[in-house]
Amino acid sequence: MNRPKLNSAELFRESCFVGGEWINADSGATLDVDNPATGEVIGRVPNFNAKDTAMAIAEADKGFHVWRDMTASERGDLLYRWYQLMEENVDDLGAIMTLEQGKPLAEAKGEVHYAGAFFKWFAEEARRAYGETIPGAKPGQHIVVTRQPVGVSAAITPWNFPAAMITRKAGAALAAGCSMVVKPAEATPFTALALAHLAQKVGIPAGVFNVITGQPQPIGEALTSSPVVRKLSFTGSTGVGRKLMAQCSQNVQKVSLELGGNAPFIVFDDADLDKAVEGAMASKFRNTGQTCVCANRFLVQSGVHDRFVEKLSEAMKKLKLGDGFEEGVNQSALINRAAVEKVQRHYEDALGKGAQRVAGSVPDGGNGNFVAPVLLTGVTPEMQLCHEETFGPLVGVIRFDKEEEAIRIANDTPYGLAAYFYSRDVHRVWRVADALESGIVGINEGAISNPTAPFGGVKASGLGREGSRHGMEEYQEIKYLCMGGE
Ligand code: SIN
Repeated sequence: MNRPKLNSAELFRESCFVGGEWINADSGATLDVDNPATGEVIGRVPNFNAKDTAMAIAEADKGFHVWRDMTASERGDLLYRWYQLMEENVDDLGAIMTLEQGKPLAEAKGEVHYAGAFFKWFAEEARRAYGETIPGAKPGQHIVVTRQPVGVSAAITPWNFPAAMITRKAGAALAAGCSMVVKPAEATPFTALALAHLAQKVGIPAGVFNVITGQPQPIGEALTSSPVVRKLSFTGSTGVGRKLMAQCSQNVQKVSLELGGNAPFIVFDDADLDKAVEGAMASKFRNTGQTCVCANRFLVQSGVHDRFVEKLSEAMKKLKLGDGFEEGVNQSALINRAAVEKVQRHYEDALGKGAQRVAGSVPDGGNGNFVAPVLLTGVTPEMQLCHEETFGPLVGVIRFDKEEEAIRIANDTPYGLAAYFYSRDVHRVWRVADALESGIVGINEGAISNPTAPFGGVKASGLGREGSRHGMEEYQEIKYLCMGGE
């Protein structure tokens, strides 16, 4: 086993954190976790079943009753301290993340800062769980609206952001007064367990933040069939999101879903091309193309098409592919072989249907999980890469002539998470921003994620928002008090 070398060895945990204790599956079953860059096993974690999960839910219920009775300010202080501990341990947390997820170390540390910023933001928001008063409907009547925590919440989180997709959910949940059971992706449990270790160090009461590991199906079923769990937040594929949503209907659990995307990135003739290329690089190559908000379809207007392609291809020469621990690497191994095969499939389909390769080439196997960044032109909307999220470093450029055409192509998808466009015409900016069917629109901006803004999609990209003050509302119930007059 190739375990990480850390300054604080206790951050690397191979047990689940439940009710303030480190425990194993009752059956003793475990799952191996490997490093996607080398295939080496780096550790193993408990493989929880439905019974183990039910026990974690019961502990979270106990935790909830303690946590909800604390003041918002006390909860905020603990979240803030947790954020500080993440900052103090950024090197170790980054190393654990690179080892299990593969992303370049600098990017992994960047994610730790991004993730910590959600705790910082929600530490402040905890104090602002304001209600409202409404003039009564009858003489002497008073109407007061309060916000109460939903209760025990569950989070099922993805492998692409092993820290931030947890803190974005847990920060909001804990700020609102909920407790949480987190089930991280099988590929990346160690970052989640390290966060649990820090929660314990901070003094978050037992049962408030629980991390359980194992296969998704039995755990997901246990979380969605429990009447104690009042909320489920999931980040992952639309297919799994649909199933979970159906399962949540049994107990009418509240759901937030952050699902797949198919982000268009439109460059109009009046764009600042250098800025557009900068934004394209930021959006497409973050996490080696493995984010739900990565630009997936590039639409470039005829007047600037060739210059944009040339500039983008120049910028792509600066990308360095390698093991995430190597100095200067900014593109690393994809999460697994299936991810590589998907990029290969999209690449071959596009070439077979007439696209041209401008830069890079996708390996045809035998190269671990590494895929070199590729740039294709002559892409048309019927190609697979325009229908499915590639989740890899493959850029496909579609040429268009008219604004209406770009909007039609951009919206011609069941998804609607993020969209980007570049233009310096103020009238076009408003027109296009209004017309795009998407929860997030980057206008002359390729980096759209931050804790202060509401992240989330429309159509098949999901339900609800994370981050911002709206993120906390997802973990609150509105209660209306009607006080009659004399
Ligand atoms: C995601 O890919 O699911 C999240 C990306 C982000 O937070 O920017």
